Amino acid sequence: MAFGSLLPPAPAERRGIPLYYDKSEDETRRDVYERYDELVARQTALHLADEINDGYPFQPLVDYMRTWLPHREQLAVADLGCSVGRLIGDAASEHPSWDCYGLDFSYQMLRQARDYWVLGETVSANLLRFGYTHDSFSGKRLPNLHFALADAATLPFPDGSLDLILNTFLIDRIPDPLAAFQEWKRVLRPGGRLICVSPLNFLKREQWETYHPPIKLIDPLVRAGWQLADLTDPLFLEEPMDRRGNVVRWRTLAMVADRV
Ligand SMILES: C[S@@+](CC[C@H](N)C(=O)[O-])C[C@H]1O[C@@H](n2cnc3c(N)ncnc32)[C@H](O)[C@@H]1O
Repeated sequence: MAFGSLLPPAPAERRGIPLYYDKSEDETRRDVYERYDELVARQTALHLADEINDGYPFQPLVDYMRTWLPHREQLAVADLGCSVGRLIGDAASEHPSWDCYGLDFSYQMLRQARDYWVLGETVSANLLRFGYTHDSFSGKRLPNLHFALADAATLPFPDGSLDLILNTFLIDRIPDPLAAFQEWKRVLRPGGRLICVSPLNFLKREQWETYHPPIKLIDPLVRAGWQLADLTDPLFLEEPMDRRGNVVRWRTLAMVADRV
C-alpha cells in the first residue's frame, strides 16, 4: 500500500494538512496548544533542539518505546497528540518502510511538524528568551510520514488498519480517556499494539477522582480486553526549561497494551 493511503479524503485541508475535525474559531482561540510563541516554542525546544539540549531530553522515553516496538518490516503506525512530531519522525526516519502518521488537534503544532519533518524546512521558535543561543533548526524530508488534524478520540483511520499506536503526554489532556481507548481498539488490527506514556497530570478534579490512583484507569482497560504487556511506573522524564538547566521532572506511567 502507498504511504499515507490509510487516511481517507479529508473534508478540508489547510496548507497541506488534512483537517478531519472542523475546529471553530472559538475552539482554536481557547486551545493553548495553538499558541505558537508559547506551547509550540516549548515543544520545539524540547523535541527538535537536541543541539542546544546536549541530546534529546526524552531519550529515556525513546529507549522505553524501542524495547516494545514490534520488529516487523512493514508497519502502519500513528502517534496521537504528536505535537511537533519527534517520536513519529524518528520512527519514520529509522524505518523507511513503515507507513507513519502524526495526528494532533493543534494546527500550529502540525504546521511546525510538517515543515520540519516532511518539507525539510528550517523551523524556528523564540527560544532566545529562555537563554538559548539559537532558535532555528533544519528539517528532514520523510516520504513515509503524514500529518493530520484530528481528535484522538475520533480517528479518520478505517477499522483494524493500524499495527501500532503511540501516544505520550496525551491521555491526561483528553476529556474521556476510556472512550479514546475504545476508539484506539477500533483502529488497531487484532494483535496490534498500543504504547502509551503519561504523567497522568489531570487538569480537572473529576478526572483525578475517576482515574487516580492509576489502577482505576488500568483495571477498566484490562476488563475491556486489552492485554497488558508492560506497566512501568514511574518512568521519570526531565523537560528542560532554560539554558541554565532548570527542569520539570515528570513522573510518568508507561504502558504497553495489546489488542487481542
Ligand atoms: C502535552 S502535549 C504532548 C506532546 C507530545 N506527545 C509530547 O510527548 O511531548 C499534548 C499534545 O496533545 C495534543 N492534543 C490535546 N488534545 C488532543 C486531542 N483530543 N486529540 C489529539 N491531540 C490532542 C495537543 O495539541 C498537544 O500537541
